[in-house]
Amino acid sequence: MATEAHRPHNADKTCWNCPAADIVTNVDFTACGQSRARGEEEGEMVIECRRRPELGSFEPSITFEECPEWQLTEYGYMLRDMKVMILGLDGYLGWTLALKLGELGCEVSGIDNYTRRDCVMEKGAHTVVPITRMTERLAVAEEQLGLSINFRRMDIRDLRNLREFMEEVRPEAIVHYAEIPSAPYSMVDAEHAIETQHNNTLGTLGLLWVMKDVVPESALIKLGTMGEYGAPLTGRPLFEGMFPSDAVLKWDNREWSMGGEITPRDPVSFYHCSKVQDTFNIYEACKYWWLRSYDIMQGVIYGVNTPQVSKDERLRTRFDIDEWFGTVVNRFVAQAILGIPLTVYGLGDQIRGFIALDDAMECMTRLISSPPEPGQYDVVNQVSGLHKVRDLAEVVAKVGKQFGYEVEIQRLENPRVEAEEHPFEVVSRALPNTFGFRPRIGLEEEITEIFKLLTRPHIVPRLGMKKHTVMPKTRWSGEKRDSDVLEVYEPGTKESEGYEGRLLSS
Ligand SMILES: NC(=O)c1ccc[n+]([C@@H]2O[C@H](COP(=O)([O-])OP(=O)(O)OC[C@H]3O[C@@H](n4cnc5c(N)ncnc54)[C@H](O)[C@@H]3O)[C@@H](O)[C@H]2O)c1
Repeated sequence: MATEAHRPHNADKTCWNCPAADIVTNVDFTACGQSRARGEEEGEMVIECRRRPELGSFEPSITFEECPEWQLTEYGYMLRDMKVMILGLDGYLGWTLALKLGELGCEVSGIDNYTRRDCVMEKGAHTVVPITRMTERLAVAEEQLGLSINFRRMDIRDLRNLREFMEEVRPEAIVHYAEIPSAPYSMVDAEHAIETQHNNTLGTLGLLWVMKDVVPESALIKLGTMGEYGAPLTGRPLFEGMFPSDAVLKWDNREWSMGGEITPRDPVSFYHCSKVQDTFNIYEACKYWWLRSYDIMQGVIYGVNTPQVSKDERLRTRFDIDEWFGTVVNRFVAQAILGIPLTVYGLGDQIRGFIALDDAMECMTRLISSPPEPGQYDVVNQVSGLHKVRDLAEVVAKVGKQFGYEVEIQRLENPRVEAEEHPFEVVSRALPNTFGFRPRIGLEEEITEIFKLLTRPHIVPRLGMKKHTVMPKTRWSGEKRDSDVLEVYEPGTKESEGYEGRLLSS
């Protein structure tokens, strides 16, 4: 048993949260998170444990700390051999998480239809950090880490096959990464916008129906994005999905409590719109069917390292630099090495939330280890720092200099439609306060790691081959053209002014 001072975040959770518990009471599905046992005394709820059938029917009161099925790890108690299915397992995050969970002793399964590989190829680009075919990736994971990952090539929208795989595996947690994650891709033309929304929204909707029928007790950890919220010019804080209990709406000399209502969303591309639709669909599924979910509003990820992917070159995760799929920090490092002045859009005072790859993986592990209870829909803002885009360019230029690159910064006519100066206050309290997460990776430190990897002799030529895919050509107006260069400047020559981001994490 852990000492009080270092009590794991999930020690007091009970069978009520455990995906191995089957509710055997006849339950009335009332509203989200509200339970009522039909024909029983109010409050009485009876379960049976799939892992410990010898216990018979009982009230869900055994804590994770007391239960032998939950074992202490550095991320809190974890269900022994927990069955986690990763949808989108071949992706930047999916592969990385599969290796981490596998090493932790989880039984990892997953699907992917390789749409990311296809979309990047359509752009004429490739992952600059080489990755092999899935069969080889799986073989190396087995050889190097002793993992046996149960993978199926499958489109999440193929409901018959998804259902069959779910029935076979009966996952205790489902991580849903399987979406097309690019704002510019969704703004190319009608076909790309429709493909993004069809893939993402209908994929998630179908998944919810399959979960309802096959594994309603499984926790859905779904990836949304901070871009669902946009950047409200009023400066209203970006709460974690719902208004807090003391929030009040005032209008016409009257006032109402807003506590528990979903906060407004102001998505910034048709891709982000697909995530907002997912949010509502998941919220409803938790309400109608008592599914349980954490909807993660994730900041932009940067980085290349986790203990698992860094162990062998053949275990690396993908790393994209093209204008559709590269994320900003990763792209800046590539530009620095390629001798392209770092591309800041417009004023560059856009503030966004960020988190390093390894920290994001730790967050996911903690969330998986602490499942929501039946009917619970919660939103978690997963960011570890807020940065202005032009400040990020300064940091990349500074680190680049240490690697011998003289880096310039260019301000481009903004291809996107977005506020270029805005207040930005983000609440991210759930991860530190409820799940015990503390970020460990510094921005500069991880940028250094990216430089180290991308300057290796086998990667530099791969960068050079795809230089032509880096500059933005996709505009929110629907045009395809290069942006005019507004200004080119030396790092360290501009004062930071205007709004600063504010991260409320305690
Ligand atoms: N990387 C980031 O910075 C970031 C930030 C915020 C949110 N997210 C979200 O996290 C998730 C994972 O992001 P990522 O960077 O790993 O993206 P990714 O494209 O590398 O991974 C997604 C994987 O899902 C697969 N996929 C997509 N549609 C599918 C379908 N219909 N059926 C089966 N597989 C399908 C893709 O082939 C890909 O391998 C996405 O939902 C993304 O929106 C990512």
